[in-house]
Order: sequence, then C-alpha cells, then structure tokens
Amino acid sequence: MKQLYLDHAATSWPKPEAVKTAMLRALEQSGNPGRSGHRLSLDAARFIHKARHTVSKFFNATSSTQIVFTLNATDALNMAIKGLVKAGDHVITTCLEHNSVLRPLFALQKAGQIELTVLELQDGTVQPEQFAQAMQPHTALVAMTHASNVTGAVIDVATVSQICQERGVKLLVDASQTAGVLPIDVQALDLAVMACSGHKSLLGPQGTGVLYVRPDIELAFWREGGTGSISHEVYQPAFMPDRMEAGTPNTIGIAGLGAGVEFLQQVGLETISQGEKALAARLRQGLRQIKGLTVYGPESGVGVVSVNLEGFDSAELSVRLERDYGILTRPGLHCAPLAHQAIGTYPHGTTRISVGYSTTEDEVDAVIEALSELAKAK
Ligand SMILES: Cc1ncc(COP(=O)(O)O)c(C=O)c1O
Repeated sequence: MKQLYLDHAATSWPKPEAVKTAMLRALEQSGNPGRSGHRLSLDAARFIHKARHTVSKFFNATSSTQIVFTLNATDALNMAIKGLVKAGDHVITTCLEHNSVLRPLFALQKAGQIELTVLELQDGTVQPEQFAQAMQPHTALVAMTHASNVTGAVIDVATVSQICQERGVKLLVDASQTAGVLPIDVQALDLAVMACSGHKSLLGPQGTGVLYVRPDIELAFWREGGTGSISHEVYQPAFMPDRMEAGTPNTIGIAGLGAGVEFLQQVGLETISQGEKALAARLRQGLRQIKGLTVYGPESGVGVVSVNLEGFDSAELSVRLERDYGILTRPGLHCAPLAHQAIGTYPHGTTRISVGYSTTEDEVDAVIEALSELAKAK
C-alpha cells in the first residue's frame, strides 16, 4: 500500500533532496564551528553563517545577527517569553496557542510574575479588536500564534501589530504553522520577536528552530556557556546572536535548515503558498460534503484541518486511515488544549489532516475518498 503523509503540521516529510545533501556534506565536513582556526572548524562556521544569512533574508531581518538558531519552536518560544516579561507585566495571548506558548505563560502567571489574559475564539479565529479591547496600561506583551495548529485559522497579524505599535506593546508571533507557507516580513510587521520550528514548512530537519529578535530588544537569557567568542570573559557576551547561543550548535541540522529555506526560495514562496492554499480549499470543500463528518474551523486558513467522524474516536479514525488506506494523520489534542476547548472537542480531540509542499491533489482526493468510505461503512 502506498504511504500518504498528511501530517505536515507536525513536521514536514519527506525533506527535499537538497536538505539531505547539505546535511551529509556538513556531517562529513564539520569541525566545531567558531572554536578552532583549522579548516574543518572554519567550514562548519561557514555552513552556519550561510544558513543564518539565508534565513535572515527570507524573513527580511535587518541583519543576520538577529537570527538565533534554536532546538525547535518550543526552545525559541521559551527564550522569547522568559526573556521578555518582567514581574508585574500584563500579557495577552489567545486560546489558539500551542502548549509551547501556554505552558511558559501559565507557569509565570501561577508564580505571580505576570497577569494573563487569554482571548476567546470569535468567528473561528481571534479578531484584532479583541486584542485592542484587552489592552491595559501595564500590558507589555502580546504573544500570539500566526495560525492555529488545530484548525488552520489565521490571526490577522498585521492589524494586531498596528494595535501593539499604537500602544507601545511588544508583539511575539509564533509562526510555527506559517513560516514557509505565508510571507512573513519581520520589519514590515514590526515584530519584536518571532519564533518558529525549522522542521515544519521551512523544510529543515528535526532539532532546528528559529528565533528572530528585533535589534532594539534585549532578551534576557538563562543559557550561558561557551560561544567561541570573547573567551577571556567569564560573562555571557551581550551581543547577538552569541548572547542567545551557548554551546556547540547543531551544525548539521542548521546546514539542512538553510538548504530547506533555499529550496523554498528556488521554488518561490508565492508558488508554495498558492499551492497549499488551493489544496487546503479542496480538502475543506471535499470534507464538508461527507455526511457524519464534522470539519472544524473557519472556511479558509492554512492547510491544517481537524475532523471528527460520527462513531469514531479520533485515535481510532487515525488508525483506520493508516491501516486501511496508508494515510498518516494525527489524532488527539495536538498540544493545544484551549483550542480544543474552544471548538468543543476537548478532551477527545480531533483527527488532524495537514498538507505541505509535497502534497498533491490526488493525495487530498484520496483522503476525502477514504473518509467518505469510512462514513458510509459505519
Ligand atoms: C503553533 C505551534 N507552535 C509551536 C509548536 C512547537 O514546535 P516544536 O515542536 O518545533 O517545538 C508547534 C508544533 O506543533 C506548533 O504547531
């Protein structure tokens, strides 16, 4: 049976050949970057420098020094949230967040460090006016996802950014579901900080993530150690990106991430974006015709769609899709409990179907067909 991968929201698969080639080259040709002066150390530093430059250009950062390589989005979000908030701050977030935003924020709230407002769902997403209404004099940060990893609903980040700018509030965007899918210009959007996975639609390997930090933002840090720079000092360097990057980096993964982003640039983000938009629309439209199948979320959004089929638990449905049709999906709560509460699917969750750069129309049609068959058989 042919395997059909529809779990791109978890991680993209397969990775482009160019990613594998770049990783193999880095594996064969890397010493410890920035630590020694020999050939292999310099080669490793070049791989990272190149990837940082590529990622920086991709998001239109002012300088590649504002790009920090992290382990994943969770690492980047923890660095951002814990590095930005101060005792007594009011923070606004949304019910659509992943636990990598919710858990750090709820822990800070529980510790009495911050006051937290969680915005509810309105018309399938969170509306910019809700952010404006929630602002208080001591609001210091808005932390929001660009798109839901449960329903694909997109939040209008440009309008939220304007609202934040008018009030001098910092904006942190979790772009894990949109980086590599929707255009993101960190300068035009005036993002204070942006975090995303490197292994989802940026097409890098697992173990990679990206944190962008605006030049005027001084993130507090907790990870301290060797950077290969100013080694005579016993204090962590204050300059970027060394400030946020201590310890031997994931050179091989970062080389792969750089190649993933180059691949996106070669194909063209606009082409990828339009392709995924069309697939997402085809998927939503096809699924909505199936009797007994509930499709959650707004009419349009990125290519992440949640469903429940009458008579099936979400885990059972994912198992049947794999066993009977070779279709790989993700059931459950998707690390987003509040999003599931908001759409009424907590605690059982949904079966999530998510498309990516390698998905074809035939694959989308196959999942629609499979669910129609399962619906009829029940
Ligand atoms: C919206 C969102 N934020 C954060 C994450 C966490 O990403 P990572 O697994 O790279 O830490 C995910 C992953 O599913 C996500 O979808």
